[in-house]
Amino acid sequence: MSAQTVDVELGARSYPVWIGHNLLPSYAPLLEALSPYSQRFLIADEAVVETYAKPLQAALQTAGILTHLITVPSGESSKSFAQLERLCDEILAHQPDRKSVLIALGGGVIGDLVGLVASLLLRGVAFVQIPTTLLAMVDSSVGGKTAINSRAGKNLVGAFYQPKAVLADLTSLQTLPPREWNAGYAEVVKYGVIRDAAFYGWLEENRDALHKNDPAILTHAVQHCVAMKAAIVKADETEQDVRALLNFGHTLGHAIEAETGYSRVLHGEAVAVGMVLALKLSAHLGHCSAALAEQLTVHLRAMGLPATLHDIQKDWSIDALIKHCYGDKKAEHGRLTFVLARSIGDAFVEKNTPESAVRSVLEIELG
Ligand code: NAD
Ligand code: GLY
Repeated sequence: MSAQTVDVELGARSYPVWIGHNLLPSYAPLLEALSPYSQRFLIADEAVVETYAKPLQAALQTAGILTHLITVPSGESSKSFAQLERLCDEILAHQPDRKSVLIALGGGVIGDLVGLVASLLLRGVAFVQIPTTLLAMVDSSVGGKTAINSRAGKNLVGAFYQPKAVLADLTSLQTLPPREWNAGYAEVVKYGVIRDAAFYGWLEENRDALHKNDPAILTHAVQHCVAMKAAIVKADETEQDVRALLNFGHTLGHAIEAETGYSRVLHGEAVAVGMVLALKLSAHLGHCSAALAEQLTVHLRAMGLPATLHDIQKDWSIDALIKHCYGDKKAEHGRLTFVLARSIGDAFVEKNTPESAVRSVLEIELG
């Protein structure tokens, strides 16, 4: 029950991220952190209610900490106005005060949704993240981006709102379906490509052990990603600058998700293809060699991830993909913004990416 702690340093809004094995259900610092609140709402993905939510609720009760358990249906479609309204109504029915806390237990869907609810209820109540997917542990639970989707696109209704603590119990990954694990791995690789060539090399050497959830390797990988994310968020909490690098692969990734209806292709799978396309675009614009995209393709495929649009069965429309790119949150003044790379570990934001280059890359991809 020992954990490594990474601190997200944001002045008065700083918080710890605890990372370790066998931390749930009764990790003492978590119990301590939850005890001062007046009411506690444990909001869990339905897939983890029996495995993690009920044992956590029981352990908290044993420690004298009572919770209301609320279940949310699994899947991206829960990041919706309907679930936002339903959660607000259910919580408000218990007459919470501002000293209440919400506990998000699940993957990125639950964390994003519950974080937004926390930011809105009574103009802001505390929340704690307990991520149970690899993606949520290395990315979405840290940094305070919360959101739901709207008809116009993904994550377009949201807020920056930091949690009070994050608990990543790596043991919970043992029940994660392999496809979901692989999708989370796409975000792990992302850190290496954008800022850390040595970590990328370490991943190439250790990816098989990581895939098998080797405890030491997994702990190192998650701790390293969280530390990188904490440093980036500390430098640029509201994404005016360096934080945009974390969107590497996401411009076309989000377009792929939108074009496939947000359910058939997982977020991490779309990001995997989007990252390779971003490297192909980087090469097309003369920033790096074509070998980079090939290297990443081999790496992602070895980890069970798609790497090209052809790996996802669909009659792709280049116009539709590009239209989604214009709706991306990074687009400014009607110009396309992409995160590109000069080499592994050296990404940068290109705020004026020519549409013609994106179109050419997609034509070559689908040709
Ligand atoms: P998810 O929350 O949908 O979880 C994936 C699946 O795994 C779901 O079916 C869930 O029911 C199941 N599950 C979760 N934990 C489990 C466990 N331990 N055992 C068995 N099943 C389990 O998806 P995700 O990949 O965690 O997150 C994707 C979401 O995160 C997207 O909506 C994406 O936009 C968002 N995201 C947000 C940020 C951010 O900074 N806020 C960053 C990256 C991604
Ligand atoms: N996942 C992107 C970010 O947190 O900025």
